[in-house]
Amino acid sequence: MRLLVTGGAGYIGSVVAAQLIAAGHDVTVLDDLSTGHADAVPAGARFVQGDLRTGAAAVLGEGIEAVLHFAAKSLVGESVEQPALYWSHNLGGTLALLEAMRAAGVRTIVFSSTAAVYGEPETVPIPETAKTMPTNPYGASKLAIDTALTEYARMHGFGATSLRYFNVAGAFADHGGWLGERHAPETHLIPNILQAAARDSGPVAIFGDDYPTPDGSCVRDYIHVADLGRAHLLALAACTPSQHAIYNLGSGTGYSNLEVLAACREVTGLEIPAKVADRRPGDPAMLVASSERISSDLGWQSARGLGEMVADAWACGYR
Ligand code: UFG
Repeated sequence: MRLLVTGGAGYIGSVVAAQLIAAGHDVTVLDDLSTGHADAVPAGARFVQGDLRTGAAAVLGEGIEAVLHFAAKSLVGESVEQPALYWSHNLGGTLALLEAMRAAGVRTIVFSSTAAVYGEPETVPIPETAKTMPTNPYGASKLAIDTALTEYARMHGFGATSLRYFNVAGAFADHGGWLGERHAPETHLIPNILQAAARDSGPVAIFGDDYPTPDGSCVRDYIHVADLGRAHLLALAACTPSQHAIYNLGSGTGYSNLEVLAACREVTGLEIPAKVADRRPGDPAMLVASSERISSDLGWQSARGLGEMVADAWACGYR
């Protein structure tokens, strides 16, 4: 198929674009490079630098049949400081994309959603039927897009799938090179631990050790970016006109921040310096996915464990 991948110069978008190309699809990447990297756009993809809010229509007019939509602002802390940025880029950008798709007669979309739509969960593991109560503008903007997709399916016959990611980690080997996390600033746990391991930049801060969890540190559900990518290919094939499907993507297993630190020490063989710091505002104590729906509908399951995620992230770079 001829596919548009928005945000295909970013961490997850570039990995999925590479997997789509490997599966024989024709891929155009649209990315404004505000957080992505031109050298992450996989070989074989056509690259258009542009803003979603103004650039989607021209690209869609070139025979695109379906869209995988990753382009977004995705820093929780930044979203609290600058909510309007998140409404404009995430919701505004997506509405512009959906209208451009409607005008071009492109009605299939796979959307990169997030566990942040659930907020502080009432129970774990979290099914798709759990209450959506985002605690920050990032999650709220993604939830608003999920709502818009339901409407575009109902009113305009779109076949849409939202994939709600839990904690994505690891890296993907593409043609001898690695596609991995390169955020600036980096806020995610595993890259921050590996940076502390590699760069003699001082101890990594573990935010909080007094949560109501077995060891007092927060618990998260990690999923390998290659497994996540596989789910996008299945979701694309399963998009059905006039239906909006929503799936959680996680492993169903939670790891505490201290367990993740231990896994990083084991994989690197280094005594990585760490210190306990204050809680980070807005962090839920425990987020673990129930991915039973995608398992039963599409046959998808997380296959790669935490050790492989850390090993691939480490192989990708930091040294
Ligand atoms: N953490 C640290 N030290 C760090 C970085 C993170 O202790 O240097 C802790 C956090 O406080 C949290 C855990 O590690 O307890 C995981 O934090 P991440 O920033 O790696 O990931 P989050 O769970 O905050 O965020 C992820 C996605 C977001 C999404 C969110 C949903 O990256 O996009 O899940 O809750 F919004």
